[in-house]
Amino acid sequence: MIDRRVAVAPMMDGTDTHCRYFLSLISPHTPLYTGMITSGALIHGDRKRFLAFNAEEHPVALQVVAVYRRNLRAVHATAMSTATTRSI
Ligand SMILES: Cc1cc2nc3c(=O)[nH]c(=O)nc-3n(C[C@H](O)[C@H](O)[C@H](O)COP(=O)(O)O)c2cc1C
Repeated sequence: MIDRRVAVAPMMDGTDTHCRYFLSLISPHTPLYTGMITSGALIHGDRKRFLAFNAEEHPVALQVVAVYRRNLRAVHATAMSTATTRSI
């Protein structure tokens, strides 16, 4: 069961996998978020880097911004099919 009373605020260029891992050591059950990532970055950019995480970070949410619904669908499929992000 995830305790949602407290969460770490998402920060673009801040809450990357290194930051989230560090925070998870301090508070293992606090929900974490990636920074906001555009759908374009995940579809055309360095998706491996954006989706990288350590198992210790869970629960972690992927925060995506998309103008077009089809891009959001593509990102969802990509995130779910990437082995390292299966639990996001
Ligand atoms: C440097 C920085 C980056 C942020 N990036 C995001 C982001 O990617 N997604 C988001 O939803 N909010 C983002 N925020 C907003 C924070 O998550 C938070 O909601 C906001 O700072 C309000 O909390 P505070 O009053 O404690 O500062 C960012 C804030 C800062 C200062």
